[in-house]
Amino acid sequence: MKDFAGKFAVVTGGGTGMGRELARQLVADGCNVAMCDISLEAMAETKRQCESDGLPQGLRVTTHVADVSIEAHLQRFRDELLEQQATDKIHLLFNNAGIGGGGSLFTHTREQWERTFNICWGGVYLGVRTFLPLMLKADEAHIVNTSSVNGFWASVGLGAPHTAYSAAKFAVKGFTEALITDLRINAPHVKCSVVMPGHIGTSIVANSRKIQNGNDSDELTPNEIVATRQRLTGMGIDTAKMSDDDITKVALDRARKFHDEAPMTAAAAAKVILDGVKADQWRILVGDDAHKIDERVRRTPEEAYTPEFFRSFAEEAGWRL
Ligand SMILES: NC(=O)c1ccc[n+]([C@@H]2O[C@H](COP(=O)([O-])OP(=O)(O)OC[C@H]3O[C@@H](n4cnc5c(N)ncnc54)[C@H](O)[C@@H]3O)[C@@H](O)[C@H]2O)c1
Repeated sequence: MKDFAGKFAVVTGGGTGMGRELARQLVADGCNVAMCDISLEAMAETKRQCESDGLPQGLRVTTHVADVSIEAHLQRFRDELLEQQATDKIHLLFNNAGIGGGGSLFTHTREQWERTFNICWGGVYLGVRTFLPLMLKADEAHIVNTSSVNGFWASVGLGAPHTAYSAAKFAVKGFTEALITDLRINAPHVKCSVVMPGHIGTSIVANSRKIQNGNDSDELTPNEIVATRQRLTGMGIDTAKMSDDDITKVALDRARKFHDEAPMTAAAAAKVILDGVKADQWRILVGDDAHKIDERVRRTPEEAYTPEFFRSFAEEAGWRL
């Protein structure tokens, strides 16, 4: 798809981060956008930013509260967008919504594990199920599923178990790659891409905590204190003399740094994603760090989960977290 002008796009998780920037850049290209998120306030801000330079005549930006892990929510979102966007088809589907957390079978609850998995994997799968019929009606269409470097490398660093997110992101990658053939045979006018970002400066760390805990509090839960201590210990830091308040401060600081000190902004990432779609790339790596880790994992797969591998990669990629 060379041009987004006059098309209809669905963006999940449009409230902040890469989803917000995708919405903004699509609108700037003249594309109608229907976004969903669990946060109405965040989407209102995205909509305000999309409209800040004035919308071209007839262009629509609509917001819809929906949890992508719940099929009935996605179906309601679809019905609302058909009515509010006055269309019977869509051309672009960005299955972008995602959260982290729930990474350990030991220090996290089953509920936390499944929340991450069901949003990151279920949201993509159900998104495709829900919106594919509308894409079949378009003359050309493109599905863009956001995985991660954790779709081919199941680690987020030393001392940090990452099982739910990695399982989900590997699933997104495998599903999307297999979809290439399914679409080629059964719906050749529909293309798909898997997006694998490295570290992008967004609020995902802070948002994930809040969604996992079901509140906006900056207080860490007892489980989070345990997990943060474990992570710091894994990094070689002695936490024995650190109080729970110290641990909380470290965790909040990490969320801030994740946003502020990333090698790439969400806006730059969205541009890479949209350029990749226009260039018809099925495999969209985002950021130099993503390219580097892809190359390293292929070169020495047996080393991929050793401390030396992580330290050497983090140094080369400039990961300071
Ligand atoms: N930031 C990174 O470094 C990075 C790296 C690799 C992959 N990713 C992936 O990129 C995607 C976008 O993440 P981001 O970094 O922009 O994060 P973000 O937290 O800034 O944005 C994600 C948005 O999704 C929304 N959301 C969360 N759960 C939802 C649900 N159940 N239903 C609907 N909306 C929901 C959030 O409210 C938020 O607005 C995610 O899939 C994430 O896993 C991010």
